[in-house]
Amino acid sequence: MKHRVGFTINGEAVEVEVEPRETLLDVIREKLNLKGTKEACDQGECGACTVLMNGKPVYSCLMLGVEAEGSDILTVEGLARGEKLHPLQEAFREHGAVQCGYCTPGMLLSAKALLDENPRPTEAEVRLAIAGNICRCTGYVKIVEAIQAVAERGSGTGR
Ligand code: FES
Ligand code: FES
Repeated sequence: MKHRVGFTINGEAVEVEVEPRETLLDVIREKLNLKGTKEACDQGECGACTVLMNGKPVYSCLMLGVEAEGSDILTVEGLARGEKLHPLQEAFREHGAVQCGYCTPGMLLSAKALLDENPRPTEAEVRLAIAGNICRCTGYVKIVEAIQAVAERGSGTGR
């Protein structure tokens, strides 16, 4: 039996019919057609599917769509403001922190959650914050540099 679930995503209130076993990742990608959230391992090991739920990073492949009821979700599509990229997106571009880009949406959201809570993190805190996001392309150095650059400029908080 399907359930009607209401929540906010990228600032917009939505209602969707979901199967009891349908993952939040499938709801986001297939029902809401927001393909920026990536599917890779589908078992909580890579972080490609990371979104923010009420400001905290979650693996959307490990959550059910019904668990989204009443929550506030942010996906990578909600970071930019029209044509204007979020400072983290700009910094990833400037620092060459994107290669294939598959990990990037999840990485950006984990970084955003960190900077919202701790605007001046140490390098160790940055590395810890993205520890659940696997990048198969880089040595993480450029990603960490990009996040630290935003922290140093003090421009990473808020939407
Ligand atoms: S796809 Fe969700 S953690 Fe890998
Ligand atoms: S840029 Fe390719 S997985 Fe991270």
